[in-house]
Amino acid sequence: MSEKIVILDFGSQYTQVIARRVRECSVFSTIIPFDTPASEIRKLKPTGIILSGGPSSVFAKDAPLPDKKVFTLGVPLMGICFGVQLLAQFMGGKVEKSSKREYGKGTLTVTDKSSDLFKGLPGSLQVWNSHGDKLTKLPRDFKVVATTENSDYAVIEHRKKKVFGLQFHPEVVHTPRGREIISNFVHNVCGCGREWTMANYIEQAVEQIRSQVGGEHVILGLSGGVDSSVAAALIHRAIGDQLTCIFVNNGLLRAKEAEAVQNLFGRNFKMKLRYVNATNEFLRRLKGITNPERKRKVIGNHFIRVFQDETKKAGKARFLAQGTLYPDVIESVPIAGNPAALIKSHHNVGGLPKNLKFQLVEPLRCLFKDEVRELGRELGLPREVVDRQPFPGPGLAVRVMGEVTRKRLEVLRQADAIVIEEMKRNDWYYKVWQSFAVLLPVKSVGVMGDERTYEDSVAVRVVDSMDGMTADWVKLPYELLENISNRIINEVNGVNRCVFDITSKPPGTIEWE
Ligand code: XMP
Repeated sequence: MSEKIVILDFGSQYTQVIARRVRECSVFSTIIPFDTPASEIRKLKPTGIILSGGPSSVFAKDAPLPDKKVFTLGVPLMGICFGVQLLAQFMGGKVEKSSKREYGKGTLTVTDKSSDLFKGLPGSLQVWNSHGDKLTKLPRDFKVVATTENSDYAVIEHRKKKVFGLQFHPEVVHTPRGREIISNFVHNVCGCGREWTMANYIEQAVEQIRSQVGGEHVILGLSGGVDSSVAAALIHRAIGDQLTCIFVNNGLLRAKEAEAVQNLFGRNFKMKLRYVNATNEFLRRLKGITNPERKRKVIGNHFIRVFQDETKKAGKARFLAQGTLYPDVIESVPIAGNPAALIKSHHNVGGLPKNLKFQLVEPLRCLFKDEVRELGRELGLPREVVDRQPFPGPGLAVRVMGEVTRKRLEVLRQADAIVIEEMKRNDWYYKVWQSFAVLLPVKSVGVMGDERTYEDSVAVRVVDSMDGMTADWVKLPYELLENISNRIINEVNGVNRCVFDITSKPPGTIEWE
């Protein structure tokens, strides 16, 4: 992409959101550490630069400071929140220490409507503030563009240099028209076009994959999840039969999942697909194990073994493809108080061992999840794949409480299929983060007809979440819950009780394990 916005990360929890908002304007963006030397930034040929916010104060002893030459690159620049303090510090303004941070909603009044940043926007806007120190004197040759109740310098501008400072966060949803402000910055101020689309990306990625791989062969572990599916479709578009996908059935998949993957990728897309049914071996190794961590270990370790064996059988591939995404690649800035630095899901670490002698092909490395879904749609993958709910690597093993047996898996599969079917039929499935059944290690008494029963219990878990880190249970209509419960108890042999999980995360987790 010839046009790009470079975002300097000062440790804000919203840095990735800024990057996504820019891309939603069809402009490529890339996040780099705050202290990247200006000479390196120049090499990236940015069309514009954004300084993220951050939890620090310019007065802090170890405040993250940029290379001061960043301000003399001659590129349009927008500082957000902490970014304004930096502008003031480096361009001759004044910031005063404030004892209290200002959080929350505010009303922005645009005092200079001729500013490109507010083109097409009303004179009064709702914004989200989060800042501590206050600007008390404008940097040289800057003027005020907008104010809030608490700040005479809410937005400042150096028109000639195209430098802006915003004391509020345009990237968050609580600034409802923030997207338009960002769009104005990238399009009106920086002059970017709309190059960044997934259709364009396919062309570029196909070229790149071809030139990386040449005439060699590539292997990809297909899980049926969004990332590996989209990676497979993209690489297949680029190199066709030079790609071999390996799909391991670990016996812990949901109803009809193995068939669906084989149909779509094997029959529809006509990919070379090695289907390995390793159910027996996985279940043998899980025998007698009830501890969740041990289950995960056994499954993870055996998966690696099976996968390695299969790669050997698949022939002489030099490349291994992975569906690594941008959030896994961005180095988080290790600044105290930066929650982003702590949020690294334990589920994503691990995976395949490093000593596999392959070069990596990672064509989704610069994409966010929403972009991967969009790319999948462009590549012709169906909604069931592209908008699929997350499903854990260890599969149903984390949803069968206690020992994982063939019989218990089958009971869970049937109950789970009913949950999915009813959620889809009632238009709820794609509105929630996850919806599934869990088989509990609890038997209880019931009556069915004239008979007393003593059978298993199923829990239904339906949650909403942005990223899996926090979640809330979904208030489904009673009629839908009733339907799910009735169907599970009537149709699934061996289950006589159904409960609905009303625990949020935290303190609960999404999976029961
Ligand atoms: P928890 O249960 O920790 O889950 O609240 C958060 C999100 O991660 C998914 N999850 C996993 N994904 N391997 C995975 O690939 C795992 O072992 C695993 N455990 C949980 C879970 O479905 C939820 O979306």
